[in-house]
Amino acid sequence: MVDQCSRVVLVCLVSFFLLIGCTVEQQFLVSRQERLALLQLRSSLGLRAKEWPIKSDPCTAWAGIQCTNGRVTGINVSGFKRTRKGSQNPQFSVDSLQSFTFLSSFNTSNLALPGSIPEWFGLRLGSLEVLDLRSCSIAGAIPFTLGNLSSLAELYLSDNNLTGIVPTSLGQLFRLSVLDLSRNSLTGMIPGTFSALGNLSLLDMSLNFLSGAIPQEIGTLSRLQFLNLSGNSLSSSIPAQLGDLSSLVDLDLGFNSLMGSIPPDLRGLKNLLKLIIGNNFLSGTLPGDLFPPLTQLQHVVLSHNAFTGDFPLVLWSMPQLRFLDASRNNFTGTLPNLSLNANASVVVFNISQNLFYGNLTSVIRRFNFVDVSGNYLQGRVPDYARGNTPLSRNCLQNIGKSKECQ
Ligand SMILES: *[C@@H]1O[C@H](CO)[C@@H](O)[C@H](O)[C@H]1NC(C)=O
Ligand SMILES: *[C@@H]1O[C@H](CO)[C@@H](O)[C@H](O)[C@H]1NC(C)=O
Ligand SMILES: *[C@@H]1O[C@H](CO)[C@@H](O)[C@H](O)[C@H]1NC(C)=O
Ligand SMILES: *[C@@H]1O[C@H](CO)[C@@H](O)[C@H](O)[C@H]1NC(C)=O
Ligand SMILES: *[C@@H]1O[C@H](CO)[C@@H](O)[C@H](O)[C@H]1NC(C)=O
Ligand SMILES: *[C@@H]1O[C@H](CO)[C@@H](O)[C@H](O)[C@H]1NC(C)=O
Ligand SMILES: *[C@@H]1O[C@H](CO)[C@@H](O)[C@H](O)[C@H]1NC(C)=O
Ligand SMILES: *[C@@H]1O[C@H](CO)[C@@H](O)[C@H](O)[C@H]1NC(C)=O
Ligand SMILES: *[C@@H]1O[C@H](CO)[C@@H](O)[C@H](O)[C@H]1NC(C)=O
Repeated sequence: MVDQCSRVVLVCLVSFFLLIGCTVEQQFLVSRQERLALLQLRSSLGLRAKEWPIKSDPCTAWAGIQCTNGRVTGINVSGFKRTRKGSQNPQFSVDSLQSFTFLSSFNTSNLALPGSIPEWFGLRLGSLEVLDLRSCSIAGAIPFTLGNLSSLAELYLSDNNLTGIVPTSLGQLFRLSVLDLSRNSLTGMIPGTFSALGNLSLLDMSLNFLSGAIPQEIGTLSRLQFLNLSGNSLSSSIPAQLGDLSSLVDLDLGFNSLMGSIPPDLRGLKNLLKLIIGNNFLSGTLPGDLFPPLTQLQHVVLSHNAFTGDFPLVLWSMPQLRFLDASRNNFTGTLPNLSLNANASVVVFNISQNLFYGNLTSVIRRFNFVDVSGNYLQGRVPDYARGNTPLSRNCLQNIGKSKECQ
């Protein structure tokens, strides 16, 4: 009796939820104004009737349109093909967007929109949570008003021709978790106001023309997991405060003009998988206690700097390390006699063009590929070292020696 009753209740509940599910899914566009605005957008962007057929309902039948309660909440025209007319004169012509009161996501990635981001974007699209304008051929400056999009959680502007400075106002977007400004022509400094972006998990400003120091305030972004500032003209030293980024997984500061030594504080980056600081003017010895706490490290690039002194012994036996490039520095020392089981855990280990000396040892059997060329190694070449081990420009027997050996 009880069983039957609960079964009936269950069946009722299930059909109730199915019904709700269906009505939500089937809801047609209810706003006449929004329908008009969509048609204007179709025409101003030169989109095809194939994706947005005029006779059918946009919420249920148009590609890339997302609706909630019969109102447009998402527009995704990413990678759409255009009409022949539309592709003749493509433009960043999206005035009708202002009609969508509930628009939370706009994605035009890989659709050419030559032109600049209009000022009104920041003032009239207040419900935007996701803005993806990647690879859209956008030029001009990032409008200061984008800092007024207070609901914004993800902002992708990478791979365009954006110029000018990075507006300090972006520091007001405290909900942001993704900020990708990479691959543009932005100049000036990284705003210190970014310290207010407490929800940020990804900050990518790589491949621009940013200069000045890395603001120490970046160190307060406790949720940051990916920080990529590579390929700019950043100078001064690496701020010790970056060591506070305990959630950081990838740190890429390569291809800049950074100077000074590596702050020992970076040992706080205990979740780090990738440490890339190659192609700078960094110098000094590597702090001895830097690497032991970084037990997750898989990928380390120190190459093309001016590091000196002993190469940290621990780097020869990091448990997760798969790739290490320490080439073109002034590291010195002998190769260790580590007795390791034959497992080649590291795929690539590059210490070429440094000041290593002494004999080749069995440590190189740990690696699938070791480059020791351009050092002062001497003695006999063991059989296991032939093959995948560039040995040239050392002082080894029966191998082309460099001039310095005589
Ligand atoms: C955006 O639209 C493209 C093309 O219709 C589609 O392939 C893609 O899955 C959509 N992406 C999202 C996140 O909706
Ligand atoms: C925008 O659309 C592209 C292509 O469908 C997709 O890969 C990308 O993830 C979308 N952007 C966002 C923020 O969802
Ligand atoms: C936009 O943000 C600025 C602060 O950066 C504020 O002074 C201004 O009132 C805001 N404008 C609107 C329309 O919200
Ligand atoms: C993160 O975003 C949430 C809303 O999504 C907001 O309530 C919170 O204050 C933000 N946190 C920080 C540290 O700004
Ligand atoms: C950082 O950005 C550059 C250029 O955009 C890219 O080539 C590199 O792979 C990125 N680094 C990481 C760790 O993802
Ligand atoms: C290594 O030291 C020598 C001598 O001090 C110097 O000339 C050379 O530039 C240094 N190399 C690097 C890569 O810093
Ligand atoms: C090692 O580094 C040198 C100098 O940066 C480079 O020329 C060489 O190709 C690298 N070797 C490997 C195996 O990647
Ligand atoms: C490694 O072992 C060899 C032979 O046992 C010895 O000559 C050499 O000094 C040792 N090297 C190191 C760095 O301990
Ligand atoms: C080496 O490989 C064997 C078998 O693949 C594995 O059991 C062992 O734990 C590995 N040793 C190390 C040090 O990773």
